[in-house]
Amino acid sequence: MDVQEFREFGKAAVDYIADYFQTIRDRPVLPSVQPGYLDDLLPKEAPQTGESWQDVLQDVDRIIMPGLTHWHSPNFHAYYPTAHSFPAIVGEMMSAGFGCVGLSWMASPAYTELEVAMMNWLGKMLHLPEEFLNCSEGPGGGVIQGSASEVTFVCLLAAKERKVKELRQINPELTEGDIKGKLIAYSSDQSNSSVEKAGLLGSMPMRLLPADDKGRLTASVLLDAIEKDKAQGLIPCYVVANLGTTPTCAFDDLNDLGPVCNKEQLWLHVDAAYAGTAFSCPEYRHLLNGVEYAESFNFNPHKWMLVNFDCSAMWVKDARYLVEAFNVERIYLKDNHKGLAPEYRHWQISLGRRFRALKLWFVLRMYGVEGIQKHVRNQIALAQYFESLVRSDDRFQVCTSSMGLVCFRLKGDDRLTKNLLEKVHQRRNIYVIPGQFHQRFVIRFAVCSRITERSDIDYAWQEFLSQAEEIVPCSKGDIGEKKGIAAIGLCSAACEKICSEKSK
Ligand SMILES: Cc1ncc(COP(=O)(O)O)c(C=O)c1O
Repeated sequence: MDVQEFREFGKAAVDYIADYFQTIRDRPVLPSVQPGYLDDLLPKEAPQTGESWQDVLQDVDRIIMPGLTHWHSPNFHAYYPTAHSFPAIVGEMMSAGFGCVGLSWMASPAYTELEVAMMNWLGKMLHLPEEFLNCSEGPGGGVIQGSASEVTFVCLLAAKERKVKELRQINPELTEGDIKGKLIAYSSDQSNSSVEKAGLLGSMPMRLLPADDKGRLTASVLLDAIEKDKAQGLIPCYVVANLGTTPTCAFDDLNDLGPVCNKEQLWLHVDAAYAGTAFSCPEYRHLLNGVEYAESFNFNPHKWMLVNFDCSAMWVKDARYLVEAFNVERIYLKDNHKGLAPEYRHWQISLGRRFRALKLWFVLRMYGVEGIQKHVRNQIALAQYFESLVRSDDRFQVCTSSMGLVCFRLKGDDRLTKNLLEKVHQRRNIYVIPGQFHQRFVIRFAVCSRITERSDIDYAWQEFLSQAEEIVPCSKGDIGEKKGIAAIGLCSAACEKICSEKSK
């Protein structure tokens, strides 16, 4: 492919993406293909001679598009949002276009230096304590990783190195093996699967302690577990606190957990993968109180901050623990600028580094902090609107509502809610997933797509209402009892329509 063809292909591809996005609301959110569908559509071997870009682009439409789940459809309400914006897409494209690998400062000075600057911008936007920032005098700093999972794992390894060093200073007769075999980590049973996985990968059992009725890990439960483990000869090492759990978006209280971790010399890591973006808004920043107790903090701009996957922001108070844990030098990696800029390869697993800072820079410049705040507030308002709709119908129960996530169920036996979810899934008009709250089966409804509007929330609610009607038929009196919210008129009207159709 020559440069002229690249121009044509690139422009056609951008047009294709733009058309896709313009029509995404009208596309069924879930694909209707069966497992293995691609096998029949692809040749069994790579072509011997190159094909035209026109043919390839046509096959994207014919072969790939039918197998996509449309995460950016306003009818996608599963998991948590994955971020998407045009500035970030162009940032990704340019990063691929430059095609460098930032394994050291000299390997591409702009890579390292823009990342340093962006992590300062982000840290200041969230009002993180100074000591986490690259621009502070101390050994702290921020770096972009690929995922929250990687961050939790990397911090676990750093915590392990710190603990070994600390204990061997006091007891030089202890071997690394003596210590490492006894280390233990803690989080709540509400933490993301990646937290447990970090323990598995890092050979440090992760105790998933029971959360309280609000989904929080409390200091008393943590302390109790620590005492029991110490009595068994184990060595407590690492705690992962959650700001915004995956099941219900619950927030641990860092002012509660922090002092225990500090007193027991445990590395406190904070996972704010989804909710971290909300700390850009002053009204949610109180949830971050106590972060000064943490050794490391992480959130995913690739979830809620409009930066396409992957971009996970991690800060540590003392990067020397990472460097000590991961520093493997070779003559071919040395450059003369050592010490002037962070050698980020020592802060992560892989040697190569993508130019993720570019898309972050584009998003921060083109949206500004205000644009990000507006996006967060809009999505939370839409979730609250959905919550008001659920509350307006006495057959339903709102179990939790936090940020852009509402967990709800049909009152009564779990089988009713399971049945409702099954029916909604079968219709494939919206996509939601199940959850659990206090041992009850719930439906998790997350506001995900950047283009979601109130009418999309109404549409989703209609889906639930129409299917609930087949499970627990409404009597007119059930509906709209709580007056005074805008939603009620619509909800009542919808139900009246269902009731009158039923009576025909
Ligand atoms: C609270 C929390 N932590 C961690 C993760 C894992 O994120 P990643 O895919 O970046 O590893 C998720 C994903 O949803 C999450 O909700």
